[in-house]
Amino acid sequence: MGDWVRAASAAELPPGRCAEVSVGGTPVALYNVDGTIYATSNTCIHRGGPLGQGLLEGHAVMCPWHAWTWDVRSGENTANPGLRIATFEVKIEGDDVLVRIPA
Ligand code: FES
Repeated sequence: MGDWVRAASAAELPPGRCAEVSVGGTPVALYNVDGTIYATSNTCIHRGGPLGQGLLEGHAVMCPWHAWTWDVRSGENTANPGLRIATFEVKIEGDDVLVRIPA
């Protein structure tokens, strides 16, 4: 479960952009893909790169450190789906992007 926590303003995350935020102390990366917002851990499991600073192309984000690429919907590594980063539920209320971090 976990609580819904405001993570960002939707207006500050236009389509094609990503951002890194702290949600209740958890580092989270947000992505706007054609108006739908996704959330994953901000921490690349390779060496800890900040995914919210990555390059977003379609549903894939490329880590800025060594270019590992992740599907922001599933958290799967696009080259090796056996590797996965955490994903979080997202909902929009007004201009607020809310993310649910597991308890
Ligand atoms: S830390 Fe992300 S690819 Fe190396």
